[in-house]
Amino acid sequence: MSNTVSFSKQGAIGLIKVNNPPVNALNQSVRAGLKTCVEQGLADDGVKAMVLICEGRTFIAGADINEFAKGMGEPGLVPVIGNMETAAKPIVAAIHGTALGGGLEVALGCHYRVALSSAKVGLPEVHLGLLPGAGGTQRLPRLVGAQAALELIVGGGHVPAAKALELGIVDEIVDGDLEAAAIAYAEKLLADGSGPRAIRDIAPEAAGSEVFDNFEKSIARKQRGFLAPFHIIKSIRAAFELPFDKGMAREEELFMELMRSSESASQRHIFFAEREVAKVPGLAKDTVKREINCGAVVGAGTMGGGIAMNFANAGIPVKLLEMKQEFLDKGIALIRKNYENTAKKGRISMADVEKRMALIEPTLSYDDIKDVDIVIEAVFENMDVKKEVFKKLDSVCRSGAILASNTSTLDVDEIANVTSRPQDVIGMHFFSPANVMRLLENVRGELTADDVIATVMSFSKRIGKIGAMVGVCDGFVGNRMLHQRTRESAYLVEEGASPEQVDKILFDFGFPMGAFTMADMAGLDVGYKVREERRKAGKVEKRDSVWIDKIVELGRHGQKTNAGVYKYEDGRTPIPDPIVKALIAECAKEAGIAQRDISDQEILERCLYPMINEGALILEEGIAARPLDIDIIWINGYGFPGYKGGPMFWADQIGLQNIVDAYAKYAKQFGDHYWQPAPLLAKLAKEGKGFYDL
Ligand code: 3HC
Ligand code: NAI
Repeated sequence: MSNTVSFSKQGAIGLIKVNNPPVNALNQSVRAGLKTCVEQGLADDGVKAMVLICEGRTFIAGADINEFAKGMGEPGLVPVIGNMETAAKPIVAAIHGTALGGGLEVALGCHYRVALSSAKVGLPEVHLGLLPGAGGTQRLPRLVGAQAALELIVGGGHVPAAKALELGIVDEIVDGDLEAAAIAYAEKLLADGSGPRAIRDIAPEAAGSEVFDNFEKSIARKQRGFLAPFHIIKSIRAAFELPFDKGMAREEELFMELMRSSESASQRHIFFAEREVAKVPGLAKDTVKREINCGAVVGAGTMGGGIAMNFANAGIPVKLLEMKQEFLDKGIALIRKNYENTAKKGRISMADVEKRMALIEPTLSYDDIKDVDIVIEAVFENMDVKKEVFKKLDSVCRSGAILASNTSTLDVDEIANVTSRPQDVIGMHFFSPANVMRLLENVRGELTADDVIATVMSFSKRIGKIGAMVGVCDGFVGNRMLHQRTRESAYLVEEGASPEQVDKILFDFGFPMGAFTMADMAGLDVGYKVREERRKAGKVEKRDSVWIDKIVELGRHGQKTNAGVYKYEDGRTPIPDPIVKALIAECAKEAGIAQRDISDQEILERCLYPMINEGALILEEGIAARPLDIDIIWINGYGFPGYKGGPMFWADQIGLQNIVDAYAKYAKQFGDHYWQPAPLLAKLAKEGKGFYDL
C-alpha cells in the first residue's frame, strides 16, 4: 500500500484519500496509490461507489514537476486515469483548494466532480512550457467545447468553482464539510441508479477549423517564441478530428516534444526560481518577521501613487504624504483614474474602487505617519532630498518601523546612515508602472537587520510582487546590467547599424521591444539626466557616444514629444527618421568612426554578452547571491523572454566558452577595456561549467 494514498470505507462508499504535502503532487507514490486503491474498491463487493479526496490545503495540484528531469517511473498517469475512467463503479472527485494540471486531469477521469465554492480548477501546464499530458486536451474539450478549451488551456488560468460549474467542469458546488458532502453525493448517485459516466464517451461538438486558425492568429504576437501554446492548439484540434485513443496518442507525442524542448526546460527553471528567489541565503528560516498592518508612502508622483495602490490592492491601509496639496490632489486623482479604468474593463467593481480608495489616506503631515509599520519613500531622485526625508522619518516614526527607499540609483547605505537606525533601512526598488510590474528589487544595506529583510521579502509576496534581494551597488542588478546593453547598442549604431536593426534583433530574440523603442518610451530626457549626473560624479565612459544626447538637445524626448530616436506620426508607432540617421553619421564622422555593415550576430552578441559578463561580476561581488536572482529580475523587470529562462540560464545553454571566445574576438577589434571577461565567467568556461553549477 502506498504511504501517500489510503483507502477506507464509509458504508457502501470507498474513500480514497491522498496525503502528499504540500500540494498533493502526483509523484510515483501517489500514482501507484491511486491505482491500488481504485483496484481495491473495485474488488470489494461491499463498495458500490468511490470518492477521491485530498488532505491538506489543496486537491492534487498537478504532476510532480521534480520528477520531470529524473523520469516518471511506473505507473504512468495516463493508464492510472484510464483505469479510473473505465471503472465499473462511479467515482466522485471531491475538490478543494486548486485542482491543477494532472490534478484536474485525474478529476476529469472521475465520473463526477463536486467542489467547494472556494475551489479553483485549471490546466496551467502552458506556464511550464508543456501541455496537459494526461488527457486534459482530449477530455476538457469534450466537456466545454473548442473555444472555451482553447482559452482555458492556452491561457492556463485558474477557474473559480462557480465558473467551472457554469462550464460543466464540475457537477455540484458544496459548502462546509467536503468529505460528508461528497459521500452524500455518491450515495445519492447510488440511490438514483446513476452509474459511471466517462468523458471519453462524449462525442465532441463539431468545431470548424477556423476556430483553431483564428485562435492561433489571435495569440501569435503575444505568444511569439513560446512553443507550448501552439502545440496545445494542435492537441485540442486532435480531440475534434481523431477518435479518443488516437487523440490521446497525439497528445502524448506533442507532450513529449515539449518535454524535450529548451523552451519548457527554461520555463520549468523559472517555476522553481520564482519560488527559490524568496528564500534569501544566509537568512535563518525561523527569522521572526515584523508585523505590517499599515504603511505610508512619501511622494505621490509616478511611483508613489502606484506603490500606494499596491497596499490598497492587498487590503492594507496606507497614508500618502506629499509636500503640497496640489501634488497630493494630482496623485490621488491619478490613482482614482487608474482604478476607474480597471473597473471599466470589468476587472474590478466600482465598489472595489471605493473600497481601495478608502484605504489610501492623503496627508501633508509627517505627524500622521508616525505610527505606521513601514514607510516607502518615493520622492525625487536626489540624494539631498532623500537625506532630508529620511532624517525626518527618523525623527517621527515609531521605533521598529521599516524605512524603505524606492531609489533606482542612489546608495542605500548613504541614505541609511543619516538615520539613527540604519538597521531598519532598506531599498525597495519598484518598477514602473509600480501597480503593474511584478518585480520588486529589494536592496539590503550593509547594516539592514535580518528581520527587516525577511519582512520585506514576505511583504513583497503579500502585495503580489516577486521580490528579489540584492546588495548595494551602482544600478543594483537590473539597471547595472542594462547599462551594458545601452552602451553597446549606442556604439553599434555609431559604427553603422541602424536603431531599427538593433531593435529588431532584440525583438526577435524575444524582448517585448528593442533598446531604442524602450528608451523613446521611457523618455530620452530621463537617460540624459542620469548620464549628466554620472558625468558630474566622474563616472565617464571610455568612449562616449554623443549622438543620443544630441537628439535630446534637439528637444526630441521620445514618444511623449512625438520624436526621439524614432519619429511618431500617430503618437506610438516608431518610424525611422532620416534626420536621426544623418545626425548619427555626422557624430560618427566627428569621432573618427568609420561606419560599416554590422551583422545581426554581432549585434546580438554585443548587446547580450556584456550583460551576462556583468551578471558574472555581480555574482562574484555577492551583489546577487545566485544566478537565479538575476534571471528572475530580468524576466520580471525587463521582459527577458521566459522561454529562454533568463540571461544566466540562457548563457549556460549557449555555453560560457562561446561567450569567452566572443570576448576574445571583440577585444582584438576594440581593445579590452570593455571586452575583458569577468574572472568568474572565464573560470567557469575553462572548467566547462555553467553559472548554475556554482
Ligand atoms: N510539483 C512539485 N512541487 C510543487 C508543485 C508541483 N506540481 N506545485 C507546487 N510545488 C511546490 C513548490 O515548489 C513549493 O515548494 P517549496 O515550498 O519547497 O518552495 C510548494 O509546493 C508550495 O508551492 P507554492 O509556494 O507555489 O504555494 P502556493 O500556495 O503559493 O501555490 C499552487 C500553490 C497554486 C498549487 C502553486 O504551487 C502552483 O501553481 N503549482 C503548480 C501547478 C502546476 O503547474 N501544475 C501542473 C503541473 S504539470 C502537469 O500536471 C503535467 C500533467 O499534465 C501531466
Ligand atoms: P516624480 O517626480 O513623479 O514624483 C516624486 C514626487 O515626490 C513628487 O510628486 C514630489 O512632489 C514628491 N516629493 C518631492 N520631495 C518631497 C518631500 N520632501 N516630501 C514629500 N513629497 C516629496 O518621481 P518618480 O518617477 O515617481 O520617482 C520617485 C522615485 O522613484 C525616485 O527615487 C526614482 O528614482 C524612483 N523610481 C522611478 C522609476 C520611474 O520609472 N519613474 C522607476 C523606479 C524607481
